Amino acid sequence: MTKVTIVYYSNFKGATEQLALAIGRGAESVPDTDVQLVKVEDVDDHWQRLHDSDAIIFGSPTYIGSVAAKFKEFVEKLAGDVWLRRMWLNKIASGFTVSAGRSGDKLNVLQQMVIFASQMSMIWVPIRITGGNYSTQGSEEDLNRMAGYIGLMAQANIDEPADKAPPPSDIKTAEMHGHHVANVARQYAHGRRELPSDYDTLNDEKTGETPATLADLMSG
Ligand SMILES: Cc1cc2nc3c(=O)[nH]c(=O)nc-3n(C[C@H](O)[C@H](O)[C@H](O)COP(=O)(O)O)c2cc1C
Repeated sequence: MTKVTIVYYSNFKGATEQLALAIGRGAESVPDTDVQLVKVEDVDDHWQRLHDSDAIIFGSPTYIGSVAAKFKEFVEKLAGDVWLRRMWLNKIASGFTVSAGRSGDKLNVLQQMVIFASQMSMIWVPIRITGGNYSTQGSEEDLNRMAGYIGLMAQANIDEPADKAPPPSDIKTAEMHGHHVANVARQYAHGRRELPSDYDTLNDEKTGETPATLADLMSG
């Protein structure tokens, strides 16, 4: 089985959660794929799952042009064992965000996620769907209507509930992105197991406990 874990934060309207669910559905449609959603608030109960995952997909709403503070709190827990021991080396990574504005400065959130993943030596998967809604022939129903590529960008009107916003086009785009990431993870994981490298941490002993933080490690 290929393990795909979606680790996300969603608070204001539940919009990010709708995307996480859609990405999960898409990932599950790839054969032999085991999908789990983990809220950042619950991450301390799920470290082993993350260490065992072939792919980790990050999700955060855009809050003041950035990942949400709670999401960053989760990321900072990686500074320590996960970072120092390269525990997530060569895991597949991707990310998604949603904001009320068409731009809303979502790009910054996805760029932050690319940096988080890069600091862990993960392999980032961008969007495969050609951007939509870019001409007089386009519409809000187009797939990838935000026309971003670095990761999944969605938009949710601030006065609509989560079952309406993000709209069906964004939800469908999220499903397709989940399928794509799981597919890449499946292909990569098979090759990685078949052709291991001597620096790979794939088979290192892992701990399901909360990984040591940088402060823990520095104080011995
Ligand atoms: C604290 C806060 C900051 C926000 N900052 C932005 C922003 O910078 N740009 C934007 O377009 N929308 C912003 N929004 C709107 C949210 O991005 C939008 O409502 C999103 O769908 C919320 O996702 P969630 O329901 O998963 O929390 C903000 C909302 C909150 C609560």
